[in-house]
Amino acid sequence: MVATRAPEDACTAEPFVPDHGGLTALRRAAAGCRGCPLHRDATRTVFGAGPADARVMLVGEQPGDQEDRQGKPFVGPAGKLLDRALAEAGIDAGEAYVTNAVKHFKFTRAEPRKRRIHQAPTLREAAACGPWLAAEPAVVEPELVVVLGATAGKTLLGSSFRVTEVRGTVLEEEIHGRRERLVPTVHPSSVLRADDREAAYRGLVADLEVAARALA
Ligand code: URA
Ligand code: SF4
Repeated sequence: MVATRAPEDACTAEPFVPDHGGLTALRRAAAGCRGCPLHRDATRTVFGAGPADARVMLVGEQPGDQEDRQGKPFVGPAGKLLDRALAEAGIDAGEAYVTNAVKHFKFTRAEPRKRRIHQAPTLREAAACGPWLAAEPAVVEPELVVVLGATAGKTLLGSSFRVTEVRGTVLEEEIHGRRERLVPTVHPSSVLRADDREAAYRGLVADLEVAARALA
């Protein structure tokens, strides 16, 4: 039997990322990314979406089932909740650039043809996809990055990132040669799973209000 897996050390999007041509070139190239094994089972790359001159960039984990079908980030249940929370905090979702740490949907199936069940990406997969997440702020140049949950946080800020320690605060960090201001918060999916959904939702809105004030 011939091994079909790419060598472990070849796990990076780097060779696929164009160095010019803006968001259009990035999006086009990302559609053909083979930087890690996740492209094999997913339907398509779900690249970031939103205006190229957005003042705020939101970074999630990875596309889910609906995002994989539609090719756009945050269009499923977590995205609906996020839109509502953003509106309540006074951030216009239509003016934000929204993306994910990992650009392909990772899932398992209990049985063939059964519902696809979301699987969290490993930090290794997030690192492989990192060159796309580095290229997006370099082009969009947002004034603020909203970090949605642990995967985005660890990818952008390192593996010691703990969302509970820094949520709702404005951080300043040098990331890929750019001085970024970031506001971390929980992932909207964690609100959907919380025992006390209302309290979790209020917490998300409060953190997004910190982001809104930092943009004012
Ligand atoms: N969860 C994410 O992190 N990103 C999406 O695009 C959808 C759900
Ligand atoms: Fe490329 Fe990222 Fe998709 Fe892996 S998950 S194939 S690195 S776009």
